[in-house]
Amino acid sequence: MINNCYLSGFSFHVPQQVMTNKDFEKLVDTTDEWITSRTGIHRRHIAANQSCSDLALQASLQALERSGINPRDLTHILLTTFTPDAYVPNAACILMEKLGVRGIPAMDVNAACTGFIYGIELARAICALHPDSMILLTASEVVTSRINLTDRSTAVLFGDGSGACVIAAKPFSNIPSSCYVTDVLLEADGSLGSLLTVNGGGSAHAMKLGQKVDHNFFVQMEGREVFKHAVRSMREISRKILHKNNLTIDDIDLFIPHQANMRIIESLSKKMQIHPDNIFINVQDYGNTSAASIPIALADAWEKGRISKGDLVMLVAFGGGFTWGAVLVQF
Ligand code: ACO
Repeated sequence: MINNCYLSGFSFHVPQQVMTNKDFEKLVDTTDEWITSRTGIHRRHIAANQSCSDLALQASLQALERSGINPRDLTHILLTTFTPDAYVPNAACILMEKLGVRGIPAMDVNAACTGFIYGIELARAICALHPDSMILLTASEVVTSRINLTDRSTAVLFGDGSGACVIAAKPFSNIPSSCYVTDVLLEADGSLGSLLTVNGGGSAHAMKLGQKVDHNFFVQMEGREVFKHAVRSMREISRKILHKNNLTIDDIDLFIPHQANMRIIESLSKKMQIHPDNIFINVQDYGNTSAASIPIALADAWEKGRISKGDLVMLVAFGGGFTWGAVLVQF
């Protein structure tokens, strides 16, 4: 089966409201110095009244425009998130209504922070099945809707935002921000799921009428364990995808890791011996936006001129589940 897959029109959107580390000093027992030295994060954008689909709409409209595609030309809508507007309807259906599109499949994909990478592989499979596909892939998170702002150990790490691109089995002609998907590798390990959870409201932790939410409703994690697994898994899957494609890390022009934490990125790049000039980092400005982190970083790197025609770019992510994955794209 031919497995051609092209991405185009990388775009991102973040809410207007910015929350700095100094703002957190007023909320919880923390300091700008602690947050900066432990995470590298200086600020993050916080949704005021916007939902997941609101943020997704903005990135999607720009991705469609940059790809020269009318929303009515779409054949599929995939939205990756762990913070959808609601359980039902799914956020992709809400997004489709906002885009003015009807009659095509629209579904949410949840692989936590690895969502966008999983979404690329799903889109690649759809392209193989339906060579005339025109797929909108969006990642959108209002992570702060599932963050306890008084829990200093998680609150300072995350931010809200969205990223999007259009995916097709045929090349996008005359679109500079387009690339070919060379390969994708995905992995997961459910035995480690309890290290990073958002349990409350799920069917195993069902809410009763009138019940108040407790800490289970919000992101809970064993920070140090997550850190270790994130570095190990992203390093290992990067090694595997390079080996599978007869490449070394020196062949990669730009390495774009999940933007969770500067220390995770530094540890990963040190172990993989990646030259600092070849890594893209924007966690300082956005915090960890979960599934949106990779498409935000990709679009940001593109807009900042960090990617040129001919570049081989590697995306690698890790998230709750645990899930992790890597993608090679050729510009
Ligand atoms: N301000 C001040 N002190 C804090 C804060 C804060 N915001 N948060 C925690 N502390 C305190 C703790 O209470 C603890 O105090 P104690 O020693 O009196 O008990 C102390 O700092 C040390 O806490 P640790 O959790 O051991 O701190 P650590 O150095 O491990 O850093 C961190 C915590 C930043 C969360 C780190 O473990 C980490 O980066 N983990 C990775 C987690 C991550 O990025 N997850 C993102 C989601 S998953 C993903 O996207 C991959």
